[in-house]
Amino acid sequence: MTALKNDRFLRALLKQPVDVTPVWMMRQAGRYLPEYRASRAKAGDFMSLCMNPAFACEVTMQPLDRYPQLDAAILFSDILTIPDAMGQGLYFETGEGPRFKKVISTMADIEALPIPDPHKDLGYVMDAVSTIRRELNGRVPLIGFAGSPWTLATYMVEGGSSKDYRKTKTMLYDNPQALHLLLDKLAQTVTSYLNGQIMAGAQAVQIFDSWGGSLSAAAYQEFSLAYMRKIVSGLIREHEGRKVPVILFTKNGGLWLESIADAGADALGLDWTCDIGSARDRVGSKVALQGNMDPTVLYAKPEAIRTEVGRILASYGKGSGHVFNLGHGITPDVDPEHAGAFLSAVHELSAQYHE
Ligand code: CP3
Repeated sequence: MTALKNDRFLRALLKQPVDVTPVWMMRQAGRYLPEYRASRAKAGDFMSLCMNPAFACEVTMQPLDRYPQLDAAILFSDILTIPDAMGQGLYFETGEGPRFKKVISTMADIEALPIPDPHKDLGYVMDAVSTIRRELNGRVPLIGFAGSPWTLATYMVEGGSSKDYRKTKTMLYDNPQALHLLLDKLAQTVTSYLNGQIMAGAQAVQIFDSWGGSLSAAAYQEFSLAYMRKIVSGLIREHEGRKVPVILFTKNGGLWLESIADAGADALGLDWTCDIGSARDRVGSKVALQGNMDPTVLYAKPEAIRTEVGRILASYGKGSGHVFNLGHGITPDVDPEHAGAFLSAVHELSAQYHE
């Protein structure tokens, strides 16, 4: 394998010294880019982009070609490939988000769910990872990812996106054994899926617990964090002679950072509701931090974006252990020039915080 030309993202996750703070954006390949919309039109729809490794590679590279400032690439795929591989029949209704042909509601449904084999049932993702690694040719590291068991379970039980997770939370309180069985099957699947991605060439992995923050403090521990801890303990942590850092991102998990930092990961993703300097005081001796600019700042003018970047860098302070990112995914109507101003500001303003 070719040596990495830019490894500051991996170094920062392990709190090793860097020249400037590394940066990438969640959902960096997506609808705010006209070239992405063109590729999606050519492929036909979103799932065809995910399932064809050449297309997945093409759209993964688009933000890197437009923004040489990016310090990492992220596999183009979706967290919902797993429920699809479990037989739920994922589809996207234009403008309406994800849907499933089969919804899960009973213990019998959960008992019947198969545990997918990543190479057989999700081989298109493994092929996308190896295709992207080849195309990157050492430019920047490649991030693999999966959804957390709790976040995946909400989609599987609700049948799509939800405002209040009513069915999943009803199951949590009325039939916790059923939900635990589902989460256990998902934890096994996510572990082998991420290990498959690592063996195919992913150099760091992120677990997206997008909806963990909707739980009570006690339920978060039992129904989300416990399963992420189990996954982390089963992951391959070194490959090709390098550490493979693990990032846990619980959106709205700011109240529970100490316990998330104890789950065994190398880094925590932060949404914009926490102050990154206080988060560093609380957990910075254990883990690196990734985040955490409010993605709506990108609607503002470049000067305002730069001010906000400067504020976050100053709050984190001197030294390594910070990967700059947005606190959630970039939104479809952001002006691509504003995203470029954001990325440049991170590198320009962060040099003063590193030796
Ligand atoms: O970050 C990247 O650039 C990599 C690609 C990526 C996608 N989805 C592509 C995508 C990643 C990492 C995800 C993760 C994902 N998917 C999450 C966790 C992160 C988060 O945002 O909290 C979740 C909850 C999903 C589920 C999902 N996928 C939803 C709810 C939707 C519809 C909403 C929307 O944004 O349209 C998707 C579709 C999706 N996944 C798109 C993209 C680029 C848009 C599809 C399109 O082109 O129309």
